[in-house]
Amino acid sequence: MVISYSCTAGTKLAWILSLLLILVAATQVHGVSPGGFLNIDCGLTNRSTYNDTDTTLTYVSDTEFVEGGNGKSYDIMAQYIADATNEQEKTLRSFPDGQRNCYTLPTNSSKKYLIRATFTYGNYDGLNSSEKGSLFLFGLHIGVNFWATVNLTNWGSSDTMYKEVITVAPDKFISVCLINLGSGTPFVSTLDLRELDGAMFPFLNLSVSISHLARQRYGSVDDYITRYPTDPFDRFWEAALRYKFPFLNMTTNQDVTKLPGNDDFQVPMPILQKASTISSNFSEFNVSVIFPDNMKNIDNINNIDYRSLELLPIFHFADIGGNNQNRTFDIYNDGNLMFPNYIPPLFRAESTYQSGKFLRKRGLNFTLRKTPSSELQPLINAFEVYSLVHTDNLTTSPDDVDYMKEVKKYYSYTRNWNGDPCSPREYSWQGLACDYANGNKNPRITRINLSASGLIGGLHIAFMKMASLENFDSSCGIPPTPCTGLYPLEAVLERLEFAGKSAEQEDYSIYEEEAPLHIDIKRFTYAELKLITNNFQSIIGKGGFGTVYHGILENNDEVAVKVLVETSIAESKDFLPEVQTLSKVHHKNLVTLVGYCQNRKCLALVYDFMPRGNLQQLLRGDIENVWTYGHRYRELRSSKQDSRYDSSLNWEERLHIALDAAQGLEYLHESCSPSIVHRDVKTPNILLDKNLVAKISDFGLSRAFNAAHTHISTVVAGTLGYLDPEYHATFQLTVKTDVYSFGIVLLEIVTGQPPVFMDPQTVHLPNWVRQKIDKGSIHDVVDKKLLDQYDATHLQTVIDLAMNCLENASIDRPSMTEVVSVLKVLFTVAVSSEKRSVTSTPQEKNVMDADIPRQFHLMISGATTTSYDNEGSSSQSGPTGGMSEISYISGR
Ligand SMILES: *[C@@H]1O[C@H](CO)[C@@H](O)[C@H](O)[C@H]1NC(C)=O
Ligand SMILES: *[C@@H]1O[C@H](CO)[C@@H](O)[C@H](O)[C@H]1NC(C)=O
Ligand SMILES: *[C@@H]1O[C@H](CO)[C@@H](O)[C@H](O)[C@H]1NC(C)=O
Ligand SMILES: *[C@@H]1O[C@H](CO)[C@@H](O)[C@H](O)[C@H]1NC(C)=O
Ligand SMILES: *[C@@H]1O[C@H](CO)[C@@H](O)[C@H](O)[C@H]1NC(C)=O
Ligand SMILES: *[C@@H]1O[C@H](CO)[C@@H](O)[C@H](O)[C@H]1NC(C)=O
Ligand SMILES: *[C@@H]1O[C@H](CO)[C@@H](O)[C@H](O)[C@H]1NC(C)=O
Ligand SMILES: *[C@@H]1O[C@H](CO)[C@@H](O)[C@H](O)[C@H]1NC(C)=O
Ligand SMILES: *[C@@H]1O[C@H](CO)[C@@H](O)[C@H](O)[C@H]1NC(C)=O
Repeated sequence: MVISYSCTAGTKLAWILSLLLILVAATQVHGVSPGGFLNIDCGLTNRSTYNDTDTTLTYVSDTEFVEGGNGKSYDIMAQYIADATNEQEKTLRSFPDGQRNCYTLPTNSSKKYLIRATFTYGNYDGLNSSEKGSLFLFGLHIGVNFWATVNLTNWGSSDTMYKEVITVAPDKFISVCLINLGSGTPFVSTLDLRELDGAMFPFLNLSVSISHLARQRYGSVDDYITRYPTDPFDRFWEAALRYKFPFLNMTTNQDVTKLPGNDDFQVPMPILQKASTISSNFSEFNVSVIFPDNMKNIDNINNIDYRSLELLPIFHFADIGGNNQNRTFDIYNDGNLMFPNYIPPLFRAESTYQSGKFLRKRGLNFTLRKTPSSELQPLINAFEVYSLVHTDNLTTSPDDVDYMKEVKKYYSYTRNWNGDPCSPREYSWQGLACDYANGNKNPRITRINLSASGLIGGLHIAFMKMASLENFDSSCGIPPTPCTGLYPLEAVLERLEFAGKSAEQEDYSIYEEEAPLHIDIKRFTYAELKLITNNFQSIIGKGGFGTVYHGILENNDEVAVKVLVETSIAESKDFLPEVQTLSKVHHKNLVTLVGYCQNRKCLALVYDFMPRGNLQQLLRGDIENVWTYGHRYRELRSSKQDSRYDSSLNWEERLHIALDAAQGLEYLHESCSPSIVHRDVKTPNILLDKNLVAKISDFGLSRAFNAAHTHISTVVAGTLGYLDPEYHATFQLTVKTDVYSFGIVLLEIVTGQPPVFMDPQTVHLPNWVRQKIDKGSIHDVVDKKLLDQYDATHLQTVIDLAMNCLENASIDRPSMTEVVSVLKVLFTVAVSSEKRSVTSTPQEKNVMDADIPRQFHLMISGATTTSYDNEGSSSQSGPTGGMSEISYISGR
C-alpha cells in the first residue's frame, strides 16, 4: 500500500507503511492455537478463518503462507462435499504452473515440529484423475529435501491421504513444497504445523528427520482416528481394528503413569489405557506393516530407492491387566529374536525401540510370543513406524537468500522463483547460476541472468525502484531501452554479482554509493558505524526495534545509533522510504535524524544524541540506571562537571516538557499530510536534550495516516498502559489514539507514577488519580518530589486536560492543537506566577492562586486568535470551534 505523503515543508514522496516487524508479529499470532499450532485450510476462500467443530482448532486460509500467491483455490465436487469428514477437505489449492510451489510456515528455529499435509482430490477439476487408471502422483519436499511421494493413482475421489514429517526447524520458517513430477497437477487440502516438546524424538537433528508410515492404537476405540485434543500434539492415531477372535480388548480406568524423564514420545494416557491381547488358547500374534508392491516402481523418482527405506518401529506398552500377574513375551522380527523376555510394566508406559537404529527392510513383520513360563498372553497398546528422511541437503547461503527475497519482492513475475534459490539443484530458480562446488557449504549465487528468462521488463522496473527510490523514474515505461540517466541494465546486473567479494566489499554492496538517496542526511557504512560507536561498546538503550549505541562523530558531535533488529534486507523493504520520510520531517520537538546505514551488513538509523535521557527516567530519578545514558552520565556526575544533571524536575520544567512533547505530536498530526499517527507515545519515547527540550522519538511504529480513508489496522500496536481503549476495541486508528497516550504521559508528569503499578493491586494510573481525588484531595496525587512547589489551580487544569485526553470515546478528546493551546497558556501563566511567588510564603501563594482561574480563562479566550507559535513550529491557532471545547476543561 502506497500513500502519497507530504509535510508542510516537505516534498511529495512515497511512504510505504512502516517496518515489517509488525507484519511478522501478525503472522505469528494469527491462527496459532494452542501454542505452537498452525492450522491451515488450503484453498479456503469463502471466509478467512473458522473453528473446526471436531477439534475446536482455529483453521485459517492459506493465502498468506503460499509463496508468491501461487496456485488456485478450488472446492471439491459437490457430490463429495457431502461426504467430507471435515471442513478442511472441502477446499484445496492446486498448482498447475511451475515445477515446485512452496508454502512458508513460521517456526521457532531449532524446535521440533510435526508437519502434516492432507490431500482430498474430490475430482475438483473434473478430470477424474485419481480414478481413471493412469498415474496420478506428485512429490513433497520439506525445505530442500525430499519427503514423500503422494500417489493418488486408483485412489477414491473422496478419500483423504495424509503425509506427516517430524523435523527440526532450521530457521524461523520452514518451507513445504509440492513438486510436479509430470503425472498430474499437485494440490493440497490441509497443512498442520505442531510444535513438539523438545524432549520428544531425541534422535532427531537438523539432518535427521522422520516421515510417518504407520501409527496405530489398539483395543476398543470409537473413532477411526484419535487426534487433538486427546493427543495434545495432534498426532493421528489410527484404530488398529484388532477386534475379531482371537483378539480381545483390554481397557482400564486406572492411571497409566510414566517414569520421570521418559518423555520421548508422550503417548496420551487414554491411548495407553487401552490395549489388545489374544485369547488364552493362543500364545502369539503378529504386528505387520507391509509396504505395497507398487513402491518398487518409484525407485527412480527423486533418487529415492524405496527398497532401501530405513525404518524405525516403535512399540508402546503398559500392562493394564491388573493384579500382579506374570506377563512375559519375546518380540521377534521376521523370525529373529529382537527383544527377549519383555515384561510390560504394570500401569506404567514404556516405549520399546532401537534408538537411532533404522532397519533396511521391504516391510516389517513382528511376532509377539508368550514365553513358556508366562501366565498371560502378550499385549500391545500402540505401535508406530517411521522412515528416515535425510535432511542434509543444504539451503542457499542465508545472505544470498535474503537478497534474492528482496529482489523477488519487487519482481512481479515470481512463478518460477519459489522455495530455495539454488537447492535442490534440479529446482533452482530460473536465471540463477549457483556454486555448489563446496559440497559441505551452503550453495552461493554467482550470477543472475534474467535476460535469459525473458523477464527483463519486470526486473528492470522493480530493481531500479529498489536500488534508488528517487533516481529512477518508473514512469519511464517498460524497457528494453533504459531511460535517460539510468544505469544500463548490464550495470545493474553487474552489481548483482556479489558472491565471492571480500567482507570489505560486501559493506559497499549494491545499495551503496552508486545509487545514493537524494536526501540531505549522511549515509554511513558499517565500518564507519563501528568506528564511531567504538566497536558498538556502549549500549544506551534497548527496545523492540533494536539496540541503541552511543557514538561520536568526527566533528565530536554525539549521536545515538539505533541498530534495527531485522538486518535482513528481505525485511527492510520499508526502510528507505522510512528514512526518506524521517529526513523530511523536521521540528524542534522531534528527534533529528542525522544519517542511516543500509547494506547487507547493517540496518541502522543515526540520531542526535539526547544527553538527558528520556522522560521516564527523569521522572523516576532513574537517570543513573545502567541501560540508558548511564555510562556517560556517571562520568559527568563523578566529575561534578554539570550540576544540571542533578536536579529533579520542577513544575515549570514539567510543564515545558509537556508542551514540547505536545507540539511535536501536533506537528505530526496537523502539519503532515496525510497525518502521521505516532502509535507509541509514552515517556520512554520522549527524549531530552541538554537544555531539557523534549523531543519525540521512535517513529518505528508511525504510519502515514490518510484521513480520507477509514484506516483499519489489523494489529494493535503500542505499549501497555498507554493503549487507547477505543483503538483496542475497533482497530480504528486516528490521531486521537496518540491524544489518549499523551493523557497518560501528562498524568505521569504530574504524579511521577508509572502508567500501571501495584497499589497494592495492579492499578491503571487514571483510575488511581480518580480514586485519590475522590477520596482526598488533588494534592494526594502530586509527585512528592515537587514538595509544595506547584500551584493548585494549574495542577487541576493539567489533570483536567489529561482526563479529557483520556475520554473513552475519541471524539470527546481534544486535538493536539487544543492541548498545545492549553499548555501554552498554562506555561506562560506558571512562569509569570513563579516570578511573582519567589518571595511569597506558602500561605500567600494559596491566596494568590485564587486569582489564577480568571486569568487563565482570559488567556484561553485570547488563544483563539493569538498564535503562540515558536520558532520553527508550524502550530497555529486551532479552529475557533475547538476552543469552546477547551473552556470546560478547567471547570471540572
Ligand atoms: C514459538 O514458540 C512460542 C513459545 O513457545 C510459541 O508460543 C509460538 O507459538 C511458537 N511459534 C511457532 C510458529 O510455532
Ligand atoms: C463456506 O462457508 C459456509 C459457512 O460460512 C459453509 O457452510 C460452507 O460449507 C463453506 N463452503 C465451502 C465450500 O467450504
Ligand atoms: C473460535 O473460538 C474462539 C474461542 O475458542 C473464539 O474467540 C473465536 O471467535 C472463534 N472464531 C470463530 C471464527 O468462530
Ligand atoms: C471416473 O473414473 C471411474 C473409474 O475409471 C469411472 O468409473 C467413471 O465413470 C469416471 N467418471 C467420469 C466422469 O469420467
Ligand atoms: C539433495 O539434492 C540432490 C541434488 O539436487 C538431489 O538429487 C537429492 O535428491 C537431494 N536429496 C534429498 C534427500 O532430497
Ligand atoms: C472390541 O471392541 C470393538 C470396538 O468397540 C468391538 O466391536 C469388539 O466386539 C470388541 N471385541 C471383543 C472380543 O469384545
Ligand atoms: C502409484 O500407485 C499405483 C496404484 O497403487 C501403482 O500402480 C503405481 O505403480 C504407483 N506409482 C508409483 C510411481 O509408485
Ligand atoms: C514370571 O516370569 C519369570 C520371568 O519370565 C519367570 O521366571 C517366573 O517363573 C514367572 N513366575 C510365575 C509365578 O509364573
Ligand atoms: C509374519 O511372520 C510370521 C512368523 O514368522 C508369519 O507366520 C506370517 O505369515 C508373517 N506375516 C506376514 C504378513 O508376512
